[in-house]
Amino acid sequence: MMLKDSDRIFTNLYGFHDWRLKAARARGAWDGTKAMIERGHEAIIEEVKASGLRGRGGAGFPTGLKWSFMPKQSDGRPNYLVINADESEPGTCKDRDIMRHDPQLLIEGALLAGFAMRAHESYIYIRGEFIREREVLQAAIDEAYDAKLIGKSNVNGWDFDLYLHHGAGAYICGEETALLESLEGKKGQPRLKPPFPANVGLYGAPTTVNNVESIAVVPAIMRRGATWFAALGKPNNTGTKLFCISGHVNTPCNVEEEMGVPLRELIDRHAGGVRGGWDNLLAVIPGGSSVPCIPASQCGELPMDFDSLRDLKSGLGTAAVIVMDKSTDIIRAIARLSYFYKHESCGQCTPCREGTGWMWRVLERMAKGQAEKGEIDMLLNVSHQVEGHTICALGDAAAWPVQGLIRHFRHVIEERIDAQATRPLASSVPVAAE
Ligand SMILES: Cc1cc2nc3c(=O)[nH]c(=O)nc-3n(C[C@H](O)[C@H](O)[C@H](O)COP(=O)(O)O)c2cc1C
Ligand code: SF4
Repeated sequence: MMLKDSDRIFTNLYGFHDWRLKAARARGAWDGTKAMIERGHEAIIEEVKASGLRGRGGAGFPTGLKWSFMPKQSDGRPNYLVINADESEPGTCKDRDIMRHDPQLLIEGALLAGFAMRAHESYIYIRGEFIREREVLQAAIDEAYDAKLIGKSNVNGWDFDLYLHHGAGAYICGEETALLESLEGKKGQPRLKPPFPANVGLYGAPTTVNNVESIAVVPAIMRRGATWFAALGKPNNTGTKLFCISGHVNTPCNVEEEMGVPLRELIDRHAGGVRGGWDNLLAVIPGGSSVPCIPASQCGELPMDFDSLRDLKSGLGTAAVIVMDKSTDIIRAIARLSYFYKHESCGQCTPCREGTGWMWRVLERMAKGQAEKGEIDMLLNVSHQVEGHTICALGDAAAWPVQGLIRHFRHVIEERIDAQATRPLASSVPVAAE
């Protein structure tokens, strides 16, 4: 199985061709957009629903269904579409390639999604570190305005203003409600839900937040039809997907593949294989740093889609595949991720604020073997007390890598404790709650 070139949506993913409007149009962008809009708001929502598209930002929520939550009649407040271009999940680097190499796909998608949800205004929130991407995207937006593809009285028949706003570089601002706070000029801290953004979002008005990739595939779905998209992958896991393959592979890359591509095929065919050969594989984090790792024994034929990975108690997340070969110190690797989540916690919820630091400190000791075996279950227990008990999913994101480590590599932690026990300690062992 390999995605046919004719089914590829991101035909300039690698930037081999020009990103500017003229070249993008020659590749098919903005072809028949007016006719799609003439089909009406509901027709677009229904087409996206029928395509089976699930959000590409991490949670995999059905996109058409999410759009249908937006009010069809205004109570005086505007509807907003907000596009999440924060892309902070470690290992993830797909949205940046859409923005710098094929920005018109995103702009056309924004108009179609905005129209479907009766939004005349849309904001793209781009992470602060993406400076070149911001420059290209802004230039592309300006080109679309100049060509009257968007803006007031444009040729497509739906007034639509698109604003690009850049953040200051905080992982938590990728969480949709923290993003809205930040967009409003406040400190980026998640809001309690309900109310959900579709009721009370940006500036208190109905809002839908979607990932860049989710929006950028919409023009292709509308042009080629929901049936075409739904025929790729398998039911409930349809379409093509951008995978970001990094770590211990010979040729790290981004690649568009069919949803459900076997993991080994993805790594061997596109990323030049695991460093030192497949047998040198230790584990893979299949969906960005927040999802539990999977040991090599489960990796081979594993279909890379939402449901297959959920069945393995992991997740497709952002489809950022982080490959670790046998040279990896897996405890230290997960401890480093824990440090990241501790650093990025916004501090509003006690389980996240205290739990992330606690888990990191225990893992740091475990990486040195300076722990008691009983602390492994204590760590697991604490991770479950963080998971699901916080305002936003950063708590879950911090808990899951720890749970994956203990599920699959408990023996490594135990062996290290045993090895340390046979050596005299250089200093006294700090207690878990140091
Ligand atoms: C801590 C945290 C960080 C997130 N970062 C991002 C991000 O950088 N980009 C993104 O699209 N979604 C991110 N999300 C998910 C968003 O909250 C939201 O679900 C997503 O943008 C919805 O888009 P989709 O339905 O198209 O997937 C993050 C979620 C959490 C909890
Ligand atoms: S879970 Fe963490 S990041 Fe999310 S709101 Fe609570 S403290 Fe902030």
